[in-house]
Amino acid sequence: DSPLLVDRFGRVATDLRVSLTDRCNLRCTYCMPAEGLDWLPKSDQLTDEELVRLMRIAVTGLGVTDIRFTGGEPLLRKGLEHVIAATAELHPRPRMSMTTNGIGLDRRAAGLKEAGLNRINVSLDTLDPARFRTLTRRDRISDVFAGLRGAREAGLTPVKVNSVLLRGQNEDEAVPLLKFCVENGYQLRFIEQMPLDPQHGWTRTNMVTAAEILTELGTAFTLTPEEAPRGGAPAERWLVDGGPAVVGVIASVTRPFCAACDRTRLTSDGQVRNCLFSQSETDLRGALRAGASDDEVADLWRGNSWAKAAGHGINDAGFHQPDRPMSAIGG
Ligand code: GTP
Ligand code: 5AD
Ligand code: SF4
Repeated sequence: DSPLLVDRFGRVATDLRVSLTDRCNLRCTYCMPAEGLDWLPKSDQLTDEELVRLMRIAVTGLGVTDIRFTGGEPLLRKGLEHVIAATAELHPRPRMSMTTNGIGLDRRAAGLKEAGLNRINVSLDTLDPARFRTLTRRDRISDVFAGLRGAREAGLTPVKVNSVLLRGQNEDEAVPLLKFCVENGYQLRFIEQMPLDPQHGWTRTNMVTAAEILTELGTAFTLTPEEAPRGGAPAERWLVDGGPAVVGVIASVTRPFCAACDRTRLTSDGQVRNCLFSQSETDLRGALRAGASDDEVADLWRGNSWAKAAGHGINDAGFHQPDRPMSAIGG
């Protein structure tokens, strides 16, 4: 019996993605309806103490080495800096990163760095203020630009930018987005849209594919595949015009990377998932609140890992989207 988070296919999960809240201050059309979603009740959310205890079990007992904080929007979690500082005290100390929409980051970046956060990924799908307002239903693009600069200045580097291209909306921005990121020292990654939206609006034909994006980038840049091994990273990377700038493509749908997956996930209400697309979860919050020991919690977590499917199945007949949307699972 391995103490680690292994599965039947020989994969080992060392990367924990923690959703700190299901709430968000944007309303991206491909993620949420205008009115938002039914947020989880406060009493269902893990307290800071519960959350830190679960991360301690993961790091000390289960071999997790990397922790990513996600949301919803993780900057909305009260006491975020405190959670990060407590995570930095764990042994062995995990590497910590965060995926955010960047709003408010300009004022928080230095404090996050101080608390122990290593690096940050910021979502930005368009450079155009009017389009940003249409896509996110909020007029806040200048906050995102300020957040990006703040992260860079605070040394939360490399600063990565995540962009989802949507057909007929921002599809024409691949080249401008890459120019912007290269000029500003951000590492851009394009993400294929996945069927995870609560409105069930995803279609294969509307998804802008990695192949299309690479063709478009090829009209303005010379891309050469990066030599460094990819490991469990979702992004395939290319040097831009000989480097040092790089661009990534996360082709979850057309080139799945599930065979090398090294992830386990914890939702803000304390459920462990072995996959973004898993149909079931393991209730660690319930176990904690019923008085389970650290060893019992670790065993539940291992059992969840063992049951992990070979892949997400998006390309298989009979695929079913998970019940929870991405904002509640954590991106
Ligand atoms: P780094 O490259 O280490 O910074 O991490 P990352 O790319 O995994 O992190 P990020 O949170 O920025 O994720 C970017 C996007 O990759 C997410 O929004 C998802 O679309 C996709 N992604 C992340 N994790 C998974 C995963 O486990 N499976 C799949 N299919 N997609 C994922
Ligand atoms: N498919 C792919 N990426 C998505 N994101 C949100 N919803 C989806 C989806 N259905 C992205 C956001 C953000 C990151 C956390 O996940 O744009 O960059
Ligand atoms: Fe891992 Fe599931 Fe993501 Fe595939 S879809 S990479 S198995 S979490």
